[in-house]
Amino acid sequence: MSTAIEFQHVSKSFGDTPVIPDMNLAIEEGELFVLVGTSGSGKTTSLKMVNRLEEPTDGDVLINGKKAKSYPLQQLRWSMGYILQQIALFPTMTVAQNIAVIPEMKKVPKKEINRLVDELLTKVALDPAKYRDRMPRELSGGEQQRIGILRAIASKPNFVLMDEPFGALDPLSRATLQDLILDLHKELHNTIIFVTHDMDEAIKLGDRIGIMGDGKLLQVGTPTELAQNPTSDFVRDFFSSSADKSVYQTPINHVIQAEGYATAPDSSEKTEQLQDTDTLQAAFVALSGYDYIEIVDQQQETLGFLSRKQVFQYLSKPQKVR
Ligand SMILES: Nc1ncnc2c1ncn2[C@@H]1O[C@H](COP(=O)(O)OP(=O)(O)O)[C@@H](O)[C@H]1O
Ligand SMILES: [Mg+2]
Repeated sequence: MSTAIEFQHVSKSFGDTPVIPDMNLAIEEGELFVLVGTSGSGKTTSLKMVNRLEEPTDGDVLINGKKAKSYPLQQLRWSMGYILQQIALFPTMTVAQNIAVIPEMKKVPKKEINRLVDELLTKVALDPAKYRDRMPRELSGGEQQRIGILRAIASKPNFVLMDEPFGALDPLSRATLQDLILDLHKELHNTIIFVTHDMDEAIKLGDRIGIMGDGKLLQVGTPTELAQNPTSDFVRDFFSSSADKSVYQTPINHVIQAEGYATAPDSSEKTEQLQDTDTLQAAFVALSGYDYIEIVDQQQETLGFLSRKQVFQYLSKPQKVR
């Protein structure tokens, strides 16, 4: 694995006001990295320095080992999908035309574009026959956001930058689109930086999470590392503010009761074994290394499988439902 995006002593001031004092971070190729923090902590500014909507005051952002500023700006932008909270679809263009904007610019043949549009719409559960010719105003907020995501990934960019993309959506649309991001990431293996202020969202999505406070990266680690080993009160409080900690002590069989067992993974997929009386915390640890865990009884007989997705689904439900 190689480093895809690196911040090297990056600082940023607006006028005389320092916003990012000294940021250092290496994001690996194919990683889904979540930047989480309160409002005003510098998440958007950090993200914009990756696709050069902002330039660092000092230091460098490296993309694939080369300074971002050494790439032709257009080439850099085209290699990076960018998704914002208020995705502005082009109002006078159809859904299909909106999705095809970048492939059109790249002069992808018409036939291929049509095929791509249908493939992508199907992926987000929107029937192409019904949706390709609709106008943005004929879509719900969640549907518009889905098209916005498709537009950003239509040319299969190696990098995707997302800035609180689901902030304005209802919880159900939000959960659906989070799953979509996980599925797309699994399929495309692109490098993603996902910005949110929502710790639950960060835990659900992140391979690793960076917690920002006041322009500084306070801690970087896997969800499990942060849960088990917060290095500051801020991180501990931020973590417990959303992810109710007692939930990690619940036995795995509660999750199974709520979510059922997963279909058995390919026999080639590696798993770890846990008993259904083990805690969710143990499952969490195991699932940071594997996509599935095998649940066994006292006699080591297989009861079934539990996927990472199921655990996150369970965790993302409001407590009353659990
Ligand atoms: N263009 C700008 N000019 C002046 N200050 C800015 C500008 N953009 C952001 N800031 C300030 O920088 C800080 C970080 O902002 P931002 O990166 O947007 O935070 P976040 O995305 O975490 O909410 C805030 O204090 C904000 O007011
Ligand atoms: Mg922001």
